[in-house]
Amino acid sequence: MGKERMLVTGGHSLEGQVRVSGGKNTAVAVIPATLLCDEPCTIENLPDIEDVHALADILQELGAKVDYEPGKVMRVDPRPAEGTTISYHNAQRLRASYYLLGALLGRCGRAKIPTPGGCEIGTRPVDQHLKGFQSIGAEAGEIGGMLTAECDDLTGGDVFFDMVTVGATVNVMLAASKAKGNTVIYNAAKEPHIVDLANFLNSMGARIRGAGTDTIRIRGVQYMHGSTYAVIPDQIETGTLMIAAAATGGDVIISGCIPTHMDALSAKLLEMGVKVTDQDDAIRVHVVGPRRAINIKTQVYPGFPTDLQQPMSALLTTAKGTSIVTETIFEQRFRHLDEIRRMGAHVRVMGRSAIIEGVPELYSAPMTATDLRAGAALIIASLMARGTSEIYEPGYIDRGYEHIEDKLRSLGAEIRREPVL
Ligand code: UD1
Repeated sequence: MGKERMLVTGGHSLEGQVRVSGGKNTAVAVIPATLLCDEPCTIENLPDIEDVHALADILQELGAKVDYEPGKVMRVDPRPAEGTTISYHNAQRLRASYYLLGALLGRCGRAKIPTPGGCEIGTRPVDQHLKGFQSIGAEAGEIGGMLTAECDDLTGGDVFFDMVTVGATVNVMLAASKAKGNTVIYNAAKEPHIVDLANFLNSMGARIRGAGTDTIRIRGVQYMHGSTYAVIPDQIETGTLMIAAAATGGDVIISGCIPTHMDALSAKLLEMGVKVTDQDDAIRVHVVGPRRAINIKTQVYPGFPTDLQQPMSALLTTAKGTSIVTETIFEQRFRHLDEIRRMGAHVRVMGRSAIIEGVPELYSAPMTATDLRAGAALIIASLMARGTSEIYEPGYIDRGYEHIEDKLRSLGAEIRREPVL
């Protein structure tokens, strides 16, 4: 496909109801997990996004039989899969290609995966993944651009993570669920998609307890039976739509979400003066007056998610007063602010903090998305701005947001895509 750009004309307040898609971060863990199954299984509610398409291709590359209806369901028969490695091209398509390492280690005791691609948001080391595999009885390393893991017998064992990491927690859960012995992960990540992955594995017969707390106990099993499983709604898409509603002075009901997953964002929007009302499986975001500046510090779950820092800091560029946004997880997650500054935002970045002085109005500008959530932030800024903004490299946004233009257009936004000649 040739180059494209998004055109967004700001100034329309978003109104109406929109449904959230299945979770990206859950999907990219659950799809590799199907390789641990000894029978066919079915995954429902997968988002129709580039990361999911890439994983469907990767499973087929490994030899699995995949029947995928985008946006609906993926049926995987992992039994014919004999591969233990994937191509460089496919590994580069998404960060989470490294979950194949844990899945294949659990399935057949060895894997060799090119170091993954994904968003450039700072150094993203894998030392904890490798340490985790070593702690459960494998030899694991990184050499010549490849991540390797191998063992005769995966014994299980105690894993102590030096920091809370989603990726390493997922990878060890995948491998350990089919170990010969028991594993305990200490200092585990608690994100909703960790719980969802545990629920999926348990639905196939795995024995995982404690997901959602910082200690996860896994009793290895030798056989997993087929299962049909629907992934949870996307927490970051939900948050992005909530922020879009707040940014445009709108009144939007975001349905099909899990409101408790959004507590950190809802609290911050309330602090800004935006009305947020939880319903059973929906959230209403309603702007009633001026939006005030606030401070934000990203944290592991249940703190404020780093993935919403970028859209949220875009919103804060027009809030009344000075906001301080501190990013504690990834060091290069302010690149979107360089672009939004071109729209007239007053922003200074000092180390891990951005100081944002709210301005009454942003002006449209041509801009480039540098990563997935930066792209979402540029959309938020453009929705607020006067005039028509151009967003280049929208392919980053397609990695993680399903049909974002259609969803925003259904709420009254003026947004479209066109080829760049
Ligand atoms: C996951 C999410 C991503 C989110 C991030 C933080 C998925 C597919 N992606 O990314 O959307 O932004 O969590 O919530 O779920 N670290 C190490 N060594 C390691 C692993 C991590 O030093 O071996 C560090 C990282 O550099 C980072 C921190 O730990 O500073 C957290 O990273 P991690 O939770 O692993 O993020 P990802 O799994 O890459």
